Amino acid sequence: MATEGVDQGKRRFLTASTTVVGAVGAGFVAVPFLASWSPSERAKTAGAPVEVDISKLQDGQKVTVEWRGKPVWIVKRSQATLDALPTLDDNLRDPASEAGQQPAYAQNPGRSIKPEILVTVGICTHLGCSPTYRPELGAADLGADWIGGFFCPCHGSKFDMAGRVYSGVPAPLNLEVPPHYYKSDRVILIGEDGGAA
Ligand code: FES
Repeated sequence: MATEGVDQGKRRFLTASTTVVGAVGAGFVAVPFLASWSPSERAKTAGAPVEVDISKLQDGQKVTVEWRGKPVWIVKRSQATLDALPTLDDNLRDPASEAGQQPAYAQNPGRSIKPEILVTVGICTHLGCSPTYRPELGAADLGADWIGGFFCPCHGSKFDMAGRVYSGVPAPLNLEVPPHYYKSDRVILIGEDGGAA
């Protein structure tokens, strides 16, 4: 269901991403979330906004929904993760998010409306692969100072837990933050900015 309308290339990336997240074994992908975004097929084709219920999302969890044929990730970040984000600034290409990869209301340290909730398009800004969610601290292949983030397996680009791209990797830009707003404390609407842009 989650990949309907996605072209074959993106479908492959979505499948790979789901597999890896599942392999982490912490119950990352949650059926209730997927069940909560089910606009009609015609509406999806037209790029209708997508509602996501985030009420059951736990720290470190990520859920993927489809919007306009693209994977959109919603990740709940812990306070420890938020506190660590500024320590990465010297290692990033665009730490202040000045390249216009997000609406104005998300140009802040967490690139988000609510600090703990990241909403970002899960497509690498290099050549369009879908990066893998790598929440493990100090992952052996990503460095002892890795505080979690996203790794693109195609050519090795790395992004932090705010979707900010590291320096010295092929991807030129931070991950895109789509327009979105909170319809309520627990429901995000992806695809519209509620007039806040
Ligand atoms: S497509 Fe992600 S690094 Fe090339």
